Amino acid sequence: MYRGIYFTADQKTLYRINYMSRLISRVLAPLVSFDCPDTDTLYETAKQIRWSDFFRADTTFAVDGNVANSRITHSQYAALCLKDAVVDSLRFKTGMRPDVSARDPDVLLNLYIHKDRAVISVDTSGGPLHKRGYREDTVSAPMQETVAAAIIRVTGWKGSIPLYDPMCGSGTLLCEALMHFCRIPSGIFRKKFGFEALPDFDPQEWNAVKIKADSAIRELPEGRIAGSDLSEQAVHITKTNLMGLHSGTRVRVIRSDFSALPTLENQTIVANPPYGIRMGKHQDLDAFYKKLGDFLKQKCRRSAAYVYFGDPAYIKKIGLKASWKKPIQAGGLDGRLVKYELY
Ligand SMILES: C[S@@+](CC[C@H](N)C(=O)[O-])C[C@H]1O[C@@H](n2cnc3c(N)ncnc32)[C@H](O)[C@@H]1O
Repeated sequence: MYRGIYFTADQKTLYRINYMSRLISRVLAPLVSFDCPDTDTLYETAKQIRWSDFFRADTTFAVDGNVANSRITHSQYAALCLKDAVVDSLRFKTGMRPDVSARDPDVLLNLYIHKDRAVISVDTSGGPLHKRGYREDTVSAPMQETVAAAIIRVTGWKGSIPLYDPMCGSGTLLCEALMHFCRIPSGIFRKKFGFEALPDFDPQEWNAVKIKADSAIRELPEGRIAGSDLSEQAVHITKTNLMGLHSGTRVRVIRSDFSALPTLENQTIVANPPYGIRMGKHQDLDAFYKKLGDFLKQKCRRSAAYVYFGDPAYIKKIGLKASWKKPIQAGGLDGRLVKYELY
């Protein structure tokens, strides 16, 4: 999973990446990069950019700031300096007074300072792409959509055998599996992208990219994706989230304790079990993971299970031999995705 990428190539590819890539959370078009030991340098350099290329009289904007290992230590203050530079520069050169809109800006600028080197970019995505728009509601520890998409990608599942999530929560893994199989563009519900505010935005090219991607969407055959959860509320949320997606009603979701499920043989199993940090320490998670290991061993023969551990300490409790373990750091968790081949 890529948190963000810098992009400088052609428009068509830029539009396609933003519309279709499931693993990237934002695509940034760099404007300038420079040595930036202090906020005066930041302000003065940012003021030199020809901001009128990106702003009409009514354009609103916001700045996302991120600072690491630098003499400037406050991300928010750095972002404020860039915001001031934009406003002052536009006012001085054109008389424009652009408004800041933190919630829904037309132009989202990104400032990244690392080791005293600053990069100012336009966020061509216009905010994180993991917010796909299909999640009406979530359970208390939902997985980020890009993480779920990465897990589905790593499993190599192509739809030739069924995929099952026995503790689906809000259904993020099921939704991402569905989008993957049906080739639903990840940005299908997004109302606007940051690249639409770029001076060379080409609506015809953008429309052509959308038409081509949307025409590749295909149906999900019955019985190909299914899931369950112990919680009635989670089942309801998963069904609601799936309902907005093409073929979503073909994903069967039931309420069940995983240990009461019938056999899940010759399937791809994905699971994101509860873990201490987010679910509350009161549960006896040691026993839970042991029971999960027994379930996989006894009822899931000839399947491959991919279990995402939000807390790697539980890997040893499951009692199964792992084929591999991959680190996935997301949402402040040092998680692991572990594959088990079940014979
Ligand atoms: C970490 S959450 C899953 C989050 C999910 N991946 C999402 O994106 O929303 C863990 C889920 O396991 C479910 N669960 C806990 N114990 C269970 C059991 N014995 N059988 C089935 N599901 C269980 C919980 O209800 C919860 O929804």
